[in-house]
Amino acid sequence: METDHFMNRQDSAGSPTVLLGISGGIAAYKTPQLVRLLVQSGMDVQCVLTRSATHFVTPLVLATLSGNPVYEDMWAVRDRPSVEHIAVADRADVAVIAPATANVIGKLAAGIADDLLTTVFTAVICPVLLCPAMNVNMYRNPIVQANLEKLRSVGFHVLDPDAGFLACGWEGEGRMPDPEVIAEGVSHLLAPRDLVGERILVTAGPTEEPLDPVRFITNRSSGKMGVAVADRAAARGATVTLVAGPLKVVPPARVRHVPVRTAREMYDRVIEYFPDVDVVVKAAAVADFRPALEKTGKMKKDEVGSSIELLKNPDIVKQLGETKRKDQIVVGFAAETHDARAHGTAKLREKHLDMLVLNDVSKPGAGFDYDTNIVTFLHRSGEEEDFGVLPKERVADLILDRVLRLRKQAIDT
Ligand code: PMT
Repeated sequence: METDHFMNRQDSAGSPTVLLGISGGIAAYKTPQLVRLLVQSGMDVQCVLTRSATHFVTPLVLATLSGNPVYEDMWAVRDRPSVEHIAVADRADVAVIAPATANVIGKLAAGIADDLLTTVFTAVICPVLLCPAMNVNMYRNPIVQANLEKLRSVGFHVLDPDAGFLACGWEGEGRMPDPEVIAEGVSHLLAPRDLVGERILVTAGPTEEPLDPVRFITNRSSGKMGVAVADRAAARGATVTLVAGPLKVVPPARVRHVPVRTAREMYDRVIEYFPDVDVVVKAAAVADFRPALEKTGKMKKDEVGSSIELLKNPDIVKQLGETKRKDQIVVGFAAETHDARAHGTAKLREKHLDMLVLNDVSKPGAGFDYDTNIVTFLHRSGEEEDFGVLPKERVADLILDRVLRLRKQAIDT
């Protein structure tokens, strides 16, 4: 399935929009200060409250400080010209729930959307920061912890509560962090919009090279690295096309996802899109070989001899490097297990790349399927940049920072 490009409101410039969800905990009294801080730092704040939250903070205060109407009732907004709860979700560049009660955390983890806040937050596709705040025993409850873990595993960011005296009289963790800390967390999640106007093609995942209808040759790529690049590029404003082999992760909603299976299908799509993009980041683990023959029926044991004849697949990135325009940037990856630098340097030259991301996939925490990677950037100038263990999203941002610099140089010369 191919998904359409998602056009986020900031693509047409303006201040970043922060969606602030407030649920019914005593810490809601701190949210006017949070709104003030966010507005002061140039953000457009849109508040959504649960009914319980209105007992702790008034919509009037929040509307006055944010300068925007405050949403609290699912049905009060239904007469607006668009599907308002989706429009509110779509407008957000970053979303935060502060305080996030055990009830709201539980509903989000279970996919329950039975009021405006949970409906809006089920529809958001931007980064979400949860700020749990509750009684210490509620917070330690294994079900609440399991719900938080589940939300983390699908990409929610969680700001751990502070420990101290709680409004309920208990002492321990459960206190919502100060508004300054939350505001800082929000601006971290808000990516710079420095790639607006850039058209970036990213490849991700493995390819599958069929032997027959039930068997194929493949590799251990999950697609996480390429998907992280696509996701961060889209968050930074680029128009992103993701040509991906079978992924073990969900492709980001705001990129155009073009699924492929074999190296030749990937080759066809990439070559087709190449003239219309400015940058290619080739994170896919493309199979170098394919079986010479693909049987139409399942092979019987006695049909398979002692060897399988293989043919070489086209080297996609090499062709891009050889045929690229001066203003186009092509970044390749190299997955190595030994003599990584020597092999990486050779690939940078032979494939005519602008930069190569080298990962020694024999290291724990690097390469296939991990959420982290350990990379070295090899540049054409001979410069090398080494990094320690980093989340793949952070590696993606570092790559995109270099891409931006290379693009500026390429356009200026
Ligand atoms: O997907 P993950 O689980 O997150 O794992 C990430 C990763 C290890 C797959 C990723 O970080 C990575 O290293 N990707 C490149 C893997 C690879 O195929 O490396 P290579 O050294 O064999 O190829 C070098 C470059 O040529 C790569 O950019 C590759 O996309 C490209 N290539 C290779 C063969 C081919 N026929 N066509 C190509 O374009």
